[in-house]
Amino acid sequence: MAESKDKKPYAEEYAINPGDFSAIGEASTKFKATLAMLGVPSDVVRRASIVAYEAEMNVLIHGGGGKIQLVVYPGSIELTASDKGPGIPDVQKAMQEGYSTATDDIRELGFGAGMGLPNIKRNSDAMSLETEVGEGTVLTAIINFTR
Ligand SMILES: Nc1ncnc2c1ncn2[C@@H]1O[C@H](COP(=O)(O)OP(=O)(O)OP(=O)(O)O)[C@@H](O)[C@H]1O
Ligand SMILES: [Mg+2]
Repeated sequence: MAESKDKKPYAEEYAINPGDFSAIGEASTKFKATLAMLGVPSDVVRRASIVAYEAEMNVLIHGGGGKIQLVVYPGSIELTASDKGPGIPDVQKAMQEGYSTATDDIRELGFGAGMGLPNIKRNSDAMSLETEVGEGTVLTAIINFTR
C-alpha cells in the first residue's frame, strides 16, 4: 500500500447492539477483511482479529452493547472498544486468567472462560483499560507492525 506523510489513518467503526448475539464476531470479521485488504501482514491480522473478537464479545456480554473502532496507522493498529455498561470494579482481578463473572446462560453459549482479557493482552503490544463502576469501560489495544 502506498503511504504518504499527510495521509489520514484509516478508521472504521461498528456498533455492538445490546443483546444481539446473532451478530457475534461481525465487527472482528469485518476488521479482518479490512486489514487484509490494506496489506497488513497476516500474523498481525490474526492477532488483531483475536483482540477485536474478545473486545467485541466483552462489550456485548458484559458491557450491554457499545461500539468498537479500528484505526490503522502506517505502522500500527489501534482497536478501541467502549461501552456505557456497569464498569469493572477490580481490573487486576478481571485481567487474571480464568476470572469471569459470566452467568450460566452465557457459559452455555461457550463464553465465560475468563480468557478474553488475558488473550487481548497477549496479542497486543500495549493495552489500556479505563473503567469506572456505573459509568462504563473503554479498552484500547495497540498492535505494531512493519511491512
Ligand atoms: N466491558 C466490560 N464491562 C464490564 N465488565 C467487563 C467488561 N469486560 C470484561 N469485564 C469483566 O472482566 C471479566 C473477565 O473478562 P474476560 O474477557 O477475561 O473473561 P470472560 O468474558 O468472562 O470470558 P471469556 O472472554 O473467556 O469468554 C468478565 O467476566 C467481567 O466480569
Ligand atoms: Mg471475554
